Amino acid sequence: MRELLNGSFNGKVTVPGDKSITHRAVMFGTLSKGTTHVYQPLLSEDTLDTVNCMVKLGADIDITDEKITINSPGAESLTSPKELLYTGNSGTTTRLLMGLITGLNLNATIDGDDTIKKRPMDRVSIPLEMMNAKLKLNNERFTPVEIFESKLEGIEYDMPIASAQVKSAIIFASLHNKITTVIREQEKSRNHTELMLKAFGGNIEVDDTTITVNGGNTLTPVDVTVPGDISSAAFLMVLAAIIPDSKVTLKNILLNETRNGIIDVFTQIGADMTIENIDDSLEKRGNITITYKPNLKPFTISGDIIPKLIDEIPILAVLALFLDGESIVRDAEELRVKETDRIMAVTNELSKYGAEFEIYEDGFKVLPSKLKIQDIEFKSYHDHRIAMMLIVMGIKMNHDIKIDNVECINISYPNFIDDLKSLKGR
Ligand code: S3P
Repeated sequence: MRELLNGSFNGKVTVPGDKSITHRAVMFGTLSKGTTHVYQPLLSEDTLDTVNCMVKLGADIDITDEKITINSPGAESLTSPKELLYTGNSGTTTRLLMGLITGLNLNATIDGDDTIKKRPMDRVSIPLEMMNAKLKLNNERFTPVEIFESKLEGIEYDMPIASAQVKSAIIFASLHNKITTVIREQEKSRNHTELMLKAFGGNIEVDDTTITVNGGNTLTPVDVTVPGDISSAAFLMVLAAIIPDSKVTLKNILLNETRNGIIDVFTQIGADMTIENIDDSLEKRGNITITYKPNLKPFTISGDIIPKLIDEIPILAVLALFLDGESIVRDAEELRVKETDRIMAVTNELSKYGAEFEIYEDGFKVLPSKLKIQDIEFKSYHDHRIAMMLIVMGIKMNHDIKIDNVECINISYPNFIDDLKSLKGR
């Protein structure tokens, strides 16, 4: 950490591929007969767990630094895995797999690490059971989840929460069966599954917040080039915005309108931000440059914008501490059931630097605070985004911060420290 302290960050970085898109590309590649290439994928613990699960279903997958190649016999030839489908720390793998296995009419058991075991999975089993799926959950809510083959029926489902994982599980379950499923969202969650399914030849119609899947699909392989993950880029965007004299360009970043809430926040605070080279193929992408500027304004976020930046809220709390006034986050109760309770983790850990908050069940207000350095150990709660948030905060405080379990950044951004080092001293 020491070499990251003192002074500005300058230069260009290609952050790793988007996590949500990499998971889905590997899954859709497995459901399509033939060869799918996934270029510039995220290779991290979470996405490798998805790869391992797809191999257990019968796909042949080869990985190099710059691509994942999936050779699959196609959905109809995939078989019930003999071993446990282990999903590690990945909520996306766990929840999407529940739908995918159900849709293939296979038998399987899914389980992950200690964090996954505590996250609610009934949000997926409830709609799947409405489709006539047969599942057994630990205490009716948690992993391990056992899935038994069944004959599915179409449903009309009004989403009680904004969750792309739940929505995607229902879409996956509907795909290979001759049924029609309608999903209605109150707030639009990330739409990568819908976009990718269309590209792979699936029969899906999207009318604003209503999604109709006409099942009985045969998918065909498509090569996917994964844009950089805006949720990873967010840490470097905030760093450049709060460290004087910094100027950082993040190349080829996902700008999908269901994911770009942080761009709205940077506009709201009056940041010096430019976005160039926009390419609109499958998923919109472009280069984002952030240049340090003093006296940025505070932000207020609530309602529809929350699903568009849900994973960025921990690092936005750090940003808020260096703005001129009080920033507010509301309607973000989903943070309580992420890799850890992120409202608790953000406020507990940042308060060790003297940060003051008003805490709500669904968010927090960041109060003007007298920040100070204390030599106590910080906790990541084995949550990659909390660990990276703390690294950025430590840099801003010029503090050689000690974080327990910091290697959990490998879940989504194994090169984080190397990318930070590459921006130093130019
Ligand atoms: C994800 C959806 C979001 C997000 C998660 C990834 C996805 O969760 O927080 O990191 O890839 O579908 P929800 O589905 O719970 O909103």
